[in-house]
Amino acid sequence: MNEKIRILIVDDEANMRKILSLALKKHGYEVQTAESGSRALELMKGFVPQMIISDIKMDNMTGIEFIRKLRTNFSSVPVCFMTAYGSISNAVEAMKLGAVDYIGKPFEIATLVEIIEASIEPAVTHDNKKIIGCSKHIKQAMKKAEKIAKTDATVMIKGETGVGKDLFARYIHQSSPRSKKPFIKVDCTSIPSELFESELFGHKKGSFTGAIEDRIGKFESAHQGTIFLDEIGTLNFNMQKKFLSIIQDRVLVRIGETTERRVDIRVITATNEDLEKLVREGKFRKDLYFRLNNIVLQVLPLRTRPEDIMELADQFLLDLDRIYGSKKQLSGPAAALLKDYDYPGNIRELKNIIEQAYILSDGTTINDKDLVFSDLSADMSTEEGQMNLKEVEIQLMKKALKIAGNNYSKAAKILGINRNQLIYKLEKYGLK
Ligand SMILES: Nc1ncnc2c1ncn2[C@@H]1O[C@H](COP(=O)(O)OP(=O)(O)OP(=O)(O)O)[C@@H](O)[C@H]1O
Ligand SMILES: [Mg+2]
Repeated sequence: MNEKIRILIVDDEANMRKILSLALKKHGYEVQTAESGSRALELMKGFVPQMIISDIKMDNMTGIEFIRKLRTNFSSVPVCFMTAYGSISNAVEAMKLGAVDYIGKPFEIATLVEIIEASIEPAVTHDNKKIIGCSKHIKQAMKKAEKIAKTDATVMIKGETGVGKDLFARYIHQSSPRSKKPFIKVDCTSIPSELFESELFGHKKGSFTGAIEDRIGKFESAHQGTIFLDEIGTLNFNMQKKFLSIIQDRVLVRIGETTERRVDIRVITATNEDLEKLVREGKFRKDLYFRLNNIVLQVLPLRTRPEDIMELADQFLLDLDRIYGSKKQLSGPAAALLKDYDYPGNIRELKNIIEQAYILSDGTTINDKDLVFSDLSADMSTEEGQMNLKEVEIQLMKKALKIAGNNYSKAAKILGINRNQLIYKLEKYGLK
């Protein structure tokens, strides 16, 4: 059947290599490991990974040196760095050299898997990722997505965190005539602002410090395919202007050049913010908003379509059965609890609750006591007055992290602050 996706782990800590390797194999990847950058380069003469997960601090050759060497041979393999917080500046350096992402240690495997899935060509990973749901809403949304897919129209996908915006963006691409061409996702919140323009538009060698070679940007990489701009609401005003010309006329100019380059792309954006409000407040350009808002696909929160809950839960259980090689079922009371909950973190939260319960439960039945819910809204309204602000913040951050599967960007989104603010607060309260 499908060939396994090949991952290379580079880390000088034997334990880390072992744990990561086991966990990723359980998720169905083919994994090889190397204890140093030079060993990795050696290994790659016979093994061509589709993604590299590398430590950044290593004795012999740092991650930075490694990616520099790597880029001279295998220019396009996506690399994700693992970094301890505090060495974010290294990560920024790494992004300049073309790392696709970085992940702060310690992290959840689920977060790493999300990064892998987002970085690798969807034609390889997402064949089997189906949109689940029997609700009228999901069926209509899929029909609408299929109609949109036939055109080249710019689409905006709206919905709360974890509702499946990403999934729908990929579905549109895969159902479109562009399906064999690249699908490039850009998370507008995750690219440091000083790198944003070069990441998207590309640059000419020498156009700024760190531009050590010509670089094509994401818009050009998406030529003939689809570009998916996630969290478009976080784009700063300066960038919004630059986006207008590419969205309007499909032309761009790389940093340090004057030639206009034409690209053939379909643009999909996603947001969980109230863009109309941002427009009214003068924070989002009206002209850009109207270009992007051409067609809107709204994905409703899970609590408005409870009939999807059990179908999703059953599918997630089957996926876990496959990963862990066992077979587990929900007890009646557990199923009743799942149906009753309101899921502020939507499908991602449901998935996390089930995965946790699956691991925690003994035997073949998942009972109600195995399910751990973290309702943000319930928490806000209780015990006011008894808690001080710091405690409330700590509680909320912990819960948001839980809902978001420890993904900092997503937890920050749930809390309505940006990623750096969250990291700052976690550090301040010693929670990292
Ligand atoms: N209808 C669905 N069927 C199956 N899986 C789903 C469905 N909707 C969402 N999921 C799963 O839930 C998780 C979250 O979905 P996704 O990443 O698409 O949400 P999102 O709206 O992009 O969230 P965010 O705003 O945080 O980026 C993913 O693992 C996705 O595969
Ligand atoms: Mg998303």
